[in-house]
Amino acid sequence: MFISFEGLDGSGKTTQAALLAEAARAAGWEVVSVREPGGTAAGERVRTLLLDPEARIAPWAEALLYAAARAQLVAEVIRPALDRGATVIADRYVDSSLAYQGVARGLGVAEVLEVNLAATGRLLPDRTILLELPAGRAAERRDAVADRIESEAEHFHASVAGGFADVARRFPDRVVVVDGSGPPADVAARVQAAVGL
Ligand SMILES: Nc1ncnc2c1ncn2[C@@H]1O[C@H](COP(=O)(O)OP(=O)(O)O)[C@@H](O)[C@H]1O
Ligand SMILES: [Mg+2]
Repeated sequence: MFISFEGLDGSGKTTQAALLAEAARAAGWEVVSVREPGGTAAGERVRTLLLDPEARIAPWAEALLYAAARAQLVAEVIRPALDRGATVIADRYVDSSLAYQGVARGLGVAEVLEVNLAATGRLLPDRTILLELPAGRAAERRDAVADRIESEAEHFHASVAGGFADVARRFPDRVVVVDGSGPPADVAARVQAAVGL
């Protein structure tokens, strides 16, 4: 099974991906955890470039760099893990590109999806957990030191939130919207219910 976590920076993806991995392992599942962008030697180098506050990257270059890191991650890690029957838990995947580059950067959801389907051999998650938290609350939880994407203006993050809502509407069979508010353990219980654990 392939599970991805999506949502704004600060919505709790990394926290919940770790808690789900822990619960799934305790239930006897083989779990492979990955984070995006990165997760491979080549992908980590792309990550450094993408998150560098000094880097000047045009919107389509940004979209293609994310897709390149993802292509490597699928080829090197995700596909082999799924092929041997493991569960893959991804901290961000294609839907982040649809929301950030497709909607917030204005490249178009259909166009960015097309590139990503090519990059991943059309691999989409079986279940995507979209952690929902008001943009202001997510901003409060974010680190004081912002990376290149996190330091975008408030209206950018509001646009990303709208992008995720659009993704949830487009893929209702795959995407489950989970309330990200409240203590981590409460959110984790909602997440486990959403993946049938
Ligand atoms: N349910 C929660 N309530 C309060 N703080 C949280 C909760 N979940 C995560 N946090 C904290 O908020 C910050 C952002 O969480 P994180 O999991 O890193 O989000 P993301 O990966 O989506 O950016 C972290 O400092 C984390 O410890
Ligand atoms: Mg995170």
